[in-house]
Amino acid sequence: MPILKEGELNVITNSADHTQKLGVCLGSLLQAGDVICLSGDMGAGKTMISAGIGMGWGALEPLTSPTFNLVHEHHRAKDQTRLFHIDCYRLRGSADLLSIGWEDILAQRGVIVIEWAELILDALPKDHLWVELRVLEASRRNLIFEPHGDRYHQLMKDFLTTNAART
Ligand SMILES: Nc1ncnc2c1ncn2[C@@H]1O[C@H](COP(=O)(O)OP(=O)(O)OP(=O)(O)O)[C@@H](O)[C@H]1O
Ligand SMILES: [Mg+2]
Repeated sequence: MPILKEGELNVITNSADHTQKLGVCLGSLLQAGDVICLSGDMGAGKTMISAGIGMGWGALEPLTSPTFNLVHEHHRAKDQTRLFHIDCYRLRGSADLLSIGWEDILAQRGVIVIEWAELILDALPKDHLWVELRVLEASRRNLIFEPHGDRYHQLMKDFLTTNAART
């Protein structure tokens, strides 16, 4: 039985910068309505890849850990699309999503980047990109990108093509 499912991508990064650069590449490809779910232990690199996603998407302000406000809303110069960066660590499950205006966020059809997405599994849109981050060593991380739905399979293809064009 294959270890990876169709369309999955398994990457090992050797530095925080390496993880961030993957985020930049991914962020440059995102469209309104895209949902990126980040899962992994503390210090795995969820905020690091989010920061890269923000850069690649064109956020006017750097993406930092949204632990205090739980949701950070970002803008870019190119258009009116928003990027919502959410940290679910302090939520006690998806019932708490009301408190952060989850339905409004979904309705705005921005890009949504969610840290600790496993805590709100039952509230996630069926189609999304799931990124599992695992700590291997002090500066090594394993990132597994799992597309759910046609849009995210295409995104993964574009991600590989864009990455190849950079080498
Ligand atoms: N290969 C790597 N990829 C990502 N981060 C790395 C890597 N190697 C070392 N690091 C370090 O690991 C830490 C990752 O922190 P980050 O805040 O991104 O984690 P997190 O998953 O968001 O944690 P939390 O659950 O606490 O929000 C940073 O200090 C970063 O410098
Ligand atoms: Mg974080």
